[in-house]
Amino acid sequence: MNILILQGSPRANGNTAWMAEEYRKAAEAAGHKVTLVDVAHKKIAGCMACEYCHGKGNGACVQKDDMQELYPLLAEAEVLVLAAPIYYFTLSAQIQAPIQRIYNMNKPGKLKKTALLASSYSPNVYDGAIGEYRGIISYWGVEDTGIVTAKIDEQKTDATRAKILQLVEKL
Ligand SMILES: Cc1cc2nc3c(=O)[nH]c(=O)nc-3n(C[C@H](O)[C@H](O)[C@H](O)COP(=O)(O)O)c2cc1C
Repeated sequence: MNILILQGSPRANGNTAWMAEEYRKAAEAAGHKVTLVDVAHKKIAGCMACEYCHGKGNGACVQKDDMQELYPLLAEAEVLVLAAPIYYFTLSAQIQAPIQRIYNMNKPGKLKKTALLASSYSPNVYDGAIGEYRGIISYWGVEDTGIVTAKIDEQKTDATRAKILQLVEKL
């Protein structure tokens, strides 16, 4: 399948980046085509709610920032993996912006399946992120292949790698 991973931590060697990379390696080994985008180091502004996309823009976003690189990838993605650290009990701002900029597409056209990878310091801090994730995939009507979380003592471990591999096996 054609897989797009959005990695939303600013820490290039951090836990989220590790999870995203483990998913990429496992998916490529299974024969999938994978594109991993470090959205935390892209210039992607929040949606302006100008409704240009739903009017004169005919689906195009009026904002000409790095999101323009992502739109063709989103249009072709059959699987979307969201990878983000937990900041204040929800997904990081760095991944919220690209998620909300999908507003112009309503739903990525070829998307069938999703997964969520998230890391935090503490346990029991994922309800906000998981609620948002479940809401979005229900709105899109796509299949959840699963969620892997990693709090401080679960980060960069064989157990977390094994859970990520299980997600890839559901594709
Ligand atoms: C701005 C900010 C807010 C955070 N908020 C939380 C939080 O609410 N709960 C928590 O357990 N960890 C919180 N953390 C810790 C990160 O989620 C944790 O260190 C995570 O593993 C970082 O992922 P990374 O290594 O991919 O950057 C916060 C970190 C930052 C920088």
